[in-house]
Amino acid sequence: MEQKTYVMIKPDAVARGLVGSIVARLEAVGLTLERMELGSVTAEQAAANYAEHEGKPFYAGLVEYVTSGPVVKMVVSGPDAVAVVRKMMGATNPKDAAPGTIRGDFGLTLDANIIHGSDSPESAEREIAIFFG
Ligand code: RTP
Ligand code: MG
Repeated sequence: MEQKTYVMIKPDAVARGLVGSIVARLEAVGLTLERMELGSVTAEQAAANYAEHEGKPFYAGLVEYVTSGPVVKMVVSGPDAVAVVRKMMGATNPKDAAPGTIRGDFGLTLDANIIHGSDSPESAEREIAIFFG
């Protein structure tokens, strides 16, 4: 099913010059870049995006991290785009992410996670509204 998903390259990956490598993977598999913008995340946007994690021990650090520097915000579309991007991202913790996945190949720590992708079509719709209005 044709879907849109929200994808965000997080501050550590932008700072390390990994934007091109990550975007190239999304393009190579055949996904379409509908929107792409380099910019910052406000505290309000971070709180809205990660509302499900409010109250958890890592929440404050997560909000601090995603607002700490420039990110690349994207709307990506294609057949089953939500699941395809999640599969390409790999497991949340880089130590569990398989080689060949974005998290498995480009990161080492859970806190400095390098990419976000919506976890369902409903999340995608909500997150695209948060970041692109
Ligand atoms: P994301 O929302 O960023 O795409 O990541 P995800 O769905 O794979 O993972 P999620 O459970 O939503 O976690 C969001 C971010 O919170 C940090 N985290 N830290 N210390 C911990 O136990 C812990 N768990 C999650 C990670 O940086 C993760 O990307
Ligand atoms: Mg998540």
